[in-house]
Order: sequence, then C-alpha cells, then structure tokens
Amino acid sequence: MLLFWLAWSQRCFAATCHINQTKANQIRPSPEFKPPSSIVSAMTSPAVVPSQMKQIMVKEKGSNYRKATEIVTVPVPEPQAKQVLVRISYAAINASDVLLCDGFYTPGLQPPYPAGLEAMGEIVATGEGSKLAVGQNVNFFKIGSFSEYVVLDDELVTVIPSADPANLLIAISGLTASIALERKGNIKSGDTLLVTAAAGATGQFAVQLGKLAGCHVIGTCSTDEKAEFLKSIGCDRPVVYTRESLDEVLKQEYPNGVDVVYESIGNEIFDTCFKNLSRYGRIIVIGVISGYEKDGSYTIPATKLPFPFATVDKSCDILGFFLGHYGADMSVHAERLAKLMSSGQLKAEVDNGEKSEKGPFRGIDMVYDAIDHMYAKKNTGKVVVAIGAGSTKATVPV
Ligand SMILES: NC(=O)c1ccc[n+]([C@@H]2O[C@H](COP(=O)([O-])OP(=O)(O)OC[C@H]3O[C@@H](n4cnc5c(N)ncnc54)[C@H](OP(=O)(O)O)[C@@H]3O)[C@@H](O)[C@H]2O)c1
Repeated sequence: MLLFWLAWSQRCFAATCHINQTKANQIRPSPEFKPPSSIVSAMTSPAVVPSQMKQIMVKEKGSNYRKATEIVTVPVPEPQAKQVLVRISYAAINASDVLLCDGFYTPGLQPPYPAGLEAMGEIVATGEGSKLAVGQNVNFFKIGSFSEYVVLDDELVTVIPSADPANLLIAISGLTASIALERKGNIKSGDTLLVTAAAGATGQFAVQLGKLAGCHVIGTCSTDEKAEFLKSIGCDRPVVYTRESLDEVLKQEYPNGVDVVYESIGNEIFDTCFKNLSRYGRIIVIGVISGYEKDGSYTIPATKLPFPFATVDKSCDILGFFLGHYGADMSVHAERLAKLMSSGQLKAEVDNGEKSEKGPFRGIDMVYDAIDHMYAKKNTGKVVVAIGAGSTKATVPV
C-alpha cells in the first residue's frame, strides 16, 4: 500500500497554485461536446459516462462561499493525450477552499474558475498514450475538484490502493503537518508542542506526529467530544477552550512556556500562544482560519511591546509555512505517512457529516453544507463529501 505515494510529485501542488486562466477555461469544453464512443466502451462497469455533469464555479471573488460560487451544468470533458477522465468519488473540504474563492492563492486568475482543491475518484477513460488504466482509484490536488468528473494530466494523479476516503488525508492535511513540523518546528523528544485546531484535518496529524517524536502535546478544541478524540490519538492535554481559558491553562500548567506551536487559528488564539511561548520558542503559522470568512481580517491584539520587538523579548521564531512551497519534500513525507498509516501508528479520522443534521454529505450540492460544517467548527478530522456521480459500483459507502 506504500508505493503509490513514492510517485508523489511536487507538480501537483504547483498546478493547484499556478493554474492559469487558459487552463481554467479548458475545464469547460464546448457545449457541443459529446463523449466519444471510445470513452463509453472503455468503462469497466455497465456505468455510462453521462454527457453532462455538475461542478462548482467561482463566479466572483469573495469570502462568502455561497455568494461567490454557483453550481453549473457543463458537458463532461474529454481526456486528451496523456490525460485521464476521473469520476470523483470523494471531494475533500479544506479550510483553504474559502481562500481559493477569495483569490488569495490566485491573484492573477479572474472568475469564472473552478472551485475545490482536492479529491479522489476512479479513472473511467484514458486519453491516447496515458500510462494509467480505467478502473484505477486515484487521488489528486488541483483546482477544480468540486466536480462530478474531471480531466487530469497523468502526472497530476497518484494511484491509491482503494476507494477508502482515508486515502485523501495524506495529501494536503498530512503533508502540511509532517513537512512543517520537520522543516520549521525542528521538534525533538521532550519538547512541549501546542497544536491549535488539533482535532481538525491537519491538526490530528500534528498531534500524532508530535507524539511519535516524543513531544508532550497540548491540543486545543471546542468541544468535549473532540477532546475525547484527541485523547484517543495520544494528546496529553486537550484544552476545551470554550469552557477553560487557554491562557490560564498554559500559565498554570506550563509556567516555562511551550517550545513549539502549530498554529492555525490566528487572532486571539495566536496572541495567547505567543504570550505563552518559551524563550527560543517557535510558532509555525499554518493559517488564520478565524479571519478567512471575514475577508482575511487578521489582527494581533496589542502586546505591551510593538509586535516585532516582542519577538526580540523572547528571541523566538515566527515561522510561516505554505505546503505549496515544499514540493520537493512531498514524496519522502508522503511515503513516511503512508507507512505510519498502514502500520497503524497513525490514525486518519474522516468526517463525512453523518453526525451532522444535514449529513451525510453526498453530491455536489452538499459541498456547501460541508463547508458550513467546518466553519461552524463541528468537524472532527477531515471533512469529505461523497460525490460518486453516475457510479454503478459500490465505491461510495455512505
Ligand atoms: N499553510 C498550509 O500550507 C496549510 C495547509 C493546510 C491547511 N492549512 C491551514 O490549517 C488550518 C486548518 O485547516 P483544515 O483544512 O485542516 O481545517 P480543520 O482543522 O479540519 O477545520 C477547521 C477547525 O478550525 C477550528 N477553528 C477555530 N476557530 C475557527 C473559526 N473561527 N472558524 C472555523 N474554524 C475554526 C475548528 O476546530 P475547533 O472548534 O476544535 O477549534 C475547526 O474544526 C487552516 O488555517 C488552514 O488554512 C494551511
């Protein structure tokens, strides 16, 4: 189950981040397109590739997801040479979906462009010269994953062992934790590691990788249920910040401060982490999710010292991290994560919305509910939406 990740390529994320307008338009073929008979005959099951599909497009930039996007019905695209047509089984929800909509990642890209960053599915047709085969399960991260079908260059897909949505977790969520902790956190046994949004998609990996490295791990979360999950993955001190003050817990229980922070929330939480950082401590800035739906607003509450000088007071490091800049590290880390997962040392929690009022999340239309679920802080683990359009196989067990 490990070798698929060896081929992981930095081009995946590069393609996600640097998609250009031409590429975005290519994903919407001409309305006259009808799938050629070669596509239909290439199917491994009686399933037929429909002529039309649904996808989510960003129609105007903004951080209000429902307002900025729309579901459109377009012809199913046709794979060209060295490309494959993938029927998406599960689309992954990332906090960054709002940033993509807002144009944060793609300032040069003007709407309309396709939404979604990451998904998995089954190859249902191949273009001429493709090295991949119909029936293979694949995983990818590239703009345009909130769609029923997608055409991908061969080099942008990773073959995965099964249709299990846990296969989605290594990519963005696992790699971010693994590479950031190694390259920026420089964690070692005995360090105190504080992970914010610890029960979320990437946080769960940071917690477990911290434990595997011999750290004492503190994890923030908003509910007792999430705290139970955190205990189950080895977190030493879950802090339910809705009923206990993170600042007081840190001051009382960790008077020497924490050595490393894996920080995703921003604003007051960042401020509290900074105040409780040890001398020589390191904060890895993973994200600022508390500001994403507010047009990226991000303020640091006043410190006694001007912020840049406050870092001098602690000789600390504030370290920015963006996965897209670490393509060269991805293969090694993906392989390591896959090994840990298959040996049972690393758990990958998937949230398909079955515990939410509207869930389980199924179909393109429910991508919106899934995003709301995350931004209402209700998720534990990685949020996924079962798409599985047109499938006649039981590959979508929701
Ligand atoms: N730098 C990179 O390359 C990179 C890559 C991947 C992800 N990220 C960042 O990592 C963070 C987590 O992303 P994810 O996709 O893994 O999401 P996630 O952690 O699965 O879900 C977000 C969680 O954040 C917590 N949260 C706290 N305040 C929030 C708020 N105001 N609004 C929404 N959620 C809030 C919630 O957990 P609690 O209720 O338990 O606090 C929520 O469940 C984001 O900041 C994202 O941008 C960065």
